[in-house]
Amino acid sequence: MNPLLDVCQLRTHFYTERGQVTAVDGVSFTISKGEIVGIVGESGCGKSVMSQSILRLLDHTEDVSYEGEALFDGEDLLKLTPKKLRSIRGSNISIIFQDPLTSLNPVYTVGDQIEEVIRLHQGLPPKEARNKAIRMLSLTGIPSPERRIDEYPHQLSGGMQQRAMIAMALACEPKLLIADEPTTALDVTIQAQILELIVELNEKLEMGVLFITHDLGVVAEICTSVKVMYLGQIVEELPTDLLFSNPLHPYTQGLIRSIPRIDGNRHEDLHVIEGTVPSLTDIPIGCRFATRCPFADDQCRQVEPQMETVSENHRVKCWHYDEIRRRREESDHAERA
Ligand SMILES: Nc1ncnc2c1ncn2[C@@H]1O[C@H](COP(=O)(O)OP(=O)(O)OP(=O)(O)O)[C@@H](O)[C@H]1O
Ligand SMILES: [Mg+2]
Repeated sequence: MNPLLDVCQLRTHFYTERGQVTAVDGVSFTISKGEIVGIVGESGCGKSVMSQSILRLLDHTEDVSYEGEALFDGEDLLKLTPKKLRSIRGSNISIIFQDPLTSLNPVYTVGDQIEEVIRLHQGLPPKEARNKAIRMLSLTGIPSPERRIDEYPHQLSGGMQQRAMIAMALACEPKLLIADEPTTALDVTIQAQILELIVELNEKLEMGVLFITHDLGVVAEICTSVKVMYLGQIVEELPTDLLFSNPLHPYTQGLIRSIPRIDGNRHEDLHVIEGTVPSLTDIPIGCRFATRCPFADDQCRQVEPQMETVSENHRVKCWHYDEIRRRREESDHAERA
């Protein structure tokens, strides 16, 4: 079956005062119908630039250029005319951001905006479009949606603006949803409600989802598979059920260990990956993670590892993955004995 989205060797370059930087460097992946793909990685690893590049949302920045392909329904989004691209965005592909005001227009009511999306893409008459808009608002947990629908974005609290934007993005029932930290700013109950709505549309309409988050708990809950990004590249990709049981990249292991634990000594348990993400103007020549990696040796510092296939759907970019896997198997074995 053809994937919904097929991203191949995507590179995004910015031209800055300090010279050219490549914020996304050779990223390839696919999303099939009904799949929820999680993207994780520390701040600055290129998650947002990658997802925005796919829809060319950075085009307003004059100093950007892309390489590679992002095929959607067989058409390369990176090469479409702005008009064609606009028609795909917001109908077949929706995107939701952490900042709702990038999507909501201050001069129209929330209802006007959601109804327009519904009328345009589903051809519903005005009354039905309004009813559907109210239903969408209510599904995202907005109280009194029949009243809120006639308000302007500035009349809503930040959390409600966020929910209105999510309602708008989901109202057109897109084939693909790109969600960039959509619920980080919301309290846990609302977050759970919105995740449920995304999963429901994913199941009902087989909507594919690219879900960017810092929260590995959310990944475990809703994602089918995970891509771990570091300094503009994917360093490990694996099915979600292997994320906690068999992570092989030292970076993935570090991310997992840095999840705050609710049980017992939260702070003492908190392991933060040492060091910081290197600057894009100073990318290590070998493995990009070598400057922070407890396993790094001369080979790691000098030669870039390739993506290796560990098992079906599990790939990792590390010179030491085999040794790491062997050690884990030995310690599992010792524990069982
Ligand atoms: N317009 C730009 N010009 C130059 N560099 C940029 C530009 N936009 C982003 N970058 C750089 O690209 C890199 C990736 O940024 P990005 O916002 O994608 O990170 P992220 O993984 O989404 O982080 P976060 O988790 O904080 O959202 C960063 O080093 C950032 O400074
Ligand atoms: Mg981001």
